[in-house]
Amino acid sequence: MKNVLITGITGQDGSYLAELLLSKGYRVYGYNRRTSSQNTTRITHLLDKITVLYGDITDSFSIYKALKTAEPVEFYNLAAQSFVGSSWDLPESTCEIDGLGVVKCLEAIKNYNPEIKFYQASTSELYGKVKESPQNENTPFHPRSPYGFAKMMGYWATVNYRESYNMFAANGILFNHESPRRGIEFVTRKISYGVAKIKLGLEKTITLGNLDAKRDWGYAPEYVDAMWRILQQKQAEDYVIATGKAHTIRDFVREAFAAIGINNWEQYVKTDAKFLRPAEVHELIGDARKAEINLKWKSKIDLSELTKIMVNADIELISKGEHK
Ligand code: NAP
Ligand code: GDD
Repeated sequence: MKNVLITGITGQDGSYLAELLLSKGYRVYGYNRRTSSQNTTRITHLLDKITVLYGDITDSFSIYKALKTAEPVEFYNLAAQSFVGSSWDLPESTCEIDGLGVVKCLEAIKNYNPEIKFYQASTSELYGKVKESPQNENTPFHPRSPYGFAKMMGYWATVNYRESYNMFAANGILFNHESPRRGIEFVTRKISYGVAKIKLGLEKTITLGNLDAKRDWGYAPEYVDAMWRILQQKQAEDYVIATGKAHTIRDFVREAFAAIGINNWEQYVKTDAKFLRPAEVHELIGDARKAEINLKWKSKIDLSELTKIMVNADIELISKGEHK
């Protein structure tokens, strides 16, 4: 049986990746930071199948200890302060976690066992103020937020450890991917949750920021499969993972309301400047042809299906009286 270590196990992707790797017969170790209240809601159903180790990727020794306990063959670094919006309020800690934290993981692996394969959760936010469309593995970066420039350090650290020490270290440059497990502060989940509340008569409107931004949205369970495929290759390389289709926030809102049979969605949506960002990433669209050829990976769920999955899950959640 192969052992695997996942940082960010309590997050959206960590929970889906743990399910996938368990189904493939891995022994899964998750790395979870200490919080004052339990934050394991996304992995409650997995707690008797995985081993949770406490640590924080800003704390090198805790990473080293986790390596010693888990003895992983694969290490997926999904831990991050992942909300772009908060990164302007938390620029230093975002850099500590999303930038320096990656260096700490790589150093720990290099010193403990450089044979461990390393996956870094890189992001389409690296492209920021895009230099070309669609974006592929060779498109130059221009990050637009503390989140973006912190992730840039993580990206280049991964490339450098690969080139300097011949380690199997690879970046997945993932475009936005969503699910019913998405954090409530991200726009898709904010919309699906708001639409579900409107459907159930609990709310009258949703308040959003920039409706014109475009994103390439996929379905998270498909994207964690791409992460695994990246680490199964003969050579460590970086991959763009995306659907190849971009839609505006307005399109997402329209589809989400369509899922509950409402067409005149405009009367339910307000905008407020407090949700605008100091610098916006206006349009992201990925070219995942390299992944399609080498990884045999392609996204299947389109925007209409994605919004239905998310809105229906939120209707069920709220109807059961459960929390977001
Ligand atoms: P998420 O739901 O916000 O999960 C982030 C995880 O990181 C949580 O488990 C969180 O723990 C953990 N974490 C935060 N700070 C930590 C620290 N100092 N030490 C240890 N763990 C820490 O994010 P996600 O959507 O699953 O994304 C997973 C990764 O992919 C992130 O690195 C994100 O930046 C990247 N990414 C995501 C997307 C996307 O569209 N979802 C696209 C590209 C890249 P708590 O539960 O304690 O907060
Ligand atoms: N969060 C939020 N809330 N965003 C809004 C709102 C709102 O009320 N109204 C409009 N938006 C716009 C934002 O301005 C942005 O252009 C877009 O919706 C998407 O915002 P988020 O859902 O917060 O995601 P993100 O694209 O900034 O970042 C996500 O995707 C990245 C990959 O491209 C995160 O998952 C990052 O961690 C990830 O790297």
